[in-house]
Amino acid sequence: MTVDVKREGDVLVATLNRPDKKNALTGAMYRGLTEVLTTAHAEAGIGAVLVTGAGGAFCAGNDIGDFLAENARASEGARTGPGGEFIRTLARFDKPIVAAVEGPAVGIGTTMCLHCDLVYAAPSARFAMPFVNLGLVPEAGSSLLVPRRFGMSVATEWLMLGEAIDAARAYEIGLVNQVVAEGVVVHALGKAKALAAKPRAALLATRKLMRGDAETLYAHMELELEAFAKALKSPEARTAFEAFTGRARG
Ligand code: COA
Repeated sequence: MTVDVKREGDVLVATLNRPDKKNALTGAMYRGLTEVLTTAHAEAGIGAVLVTGAGGAFCAGNDIGDFLAENARASEGARTGPGGEFIRTLARFDKPIVAAVEGPAVGIGTTMCLHCDLVYAAPSARFAMPFVNLGLVPEAGSSLLVPRRFGMSVATEWLMLGEAIDAARAYEIGLVNQVVAEGVVVHALGKAKALAAKPRAALLATRKLMRGDAETLYAHMELELEAFAKALKSPEARTAFEAFTGRARG
């Protein structure tokens, strides 16, 4: 299992645990994360979820070897595998999610944070969405949420130039609630516990009201997933995936 799950009081803690690959997500890890959210939704005793990564990295995005394998497959249509399922479950999840980010948060590592209620970062955190550099398009609603939350100029640097931003900049633009010099996971857990201890119905209703019209987001995500599935099969994506996977050999 490469997602460790434990209960801390009323908080369900999911730790991505594939540190030798900077917690790049495999199909099994997406399924593990979806299961965490499904469990947290179903269990009345759970009031919040904390997501973090082991070994000083949050998440290096989708496993690029898996992307390369998918590039060669003949399937068509919107992204239907465990990645797509996780993204859809995440966007529809109804309880607070807190992220504790150390080191790289790439691709889904960053787009996941857009769905979190609170994000705490160590000074080592770096957020990047290099979809275009990989011949891909944004996912998890990021092409809607990033311009909406941070403005078009930040979105262009982040999603089109594919530039990474550090913890200080992420705090400045409002993605990150606080940069925590030491003990970011403990700090984030404290905040998750604080949310879980609030009057539950009022908290969940407030969260829903704050998020507003979710249907627009869901529809936009489906457009992204269709475009993503198409891009995943493209020659330019294959070239980029091969450049990354070949880097290790060469
Ligand atoms: N898929 C598969 N393997 C990955 C990976 C990914 N997304 N990200 C990192 N790894 C692997 C590396 O290949 C390397 O494996 P190796 O030790 O067997 O050679 C190991 O994890 C460590 O990565 P490395 O690049 O040496 O670490 P770093 O600290 O120099 O850089 C990153 C970390 C995350 C910045 C860099 O690995 C990276 O850019 N990864 C790709 C991120 C990405 O584009 N993800 C997809 C987004 S859609």
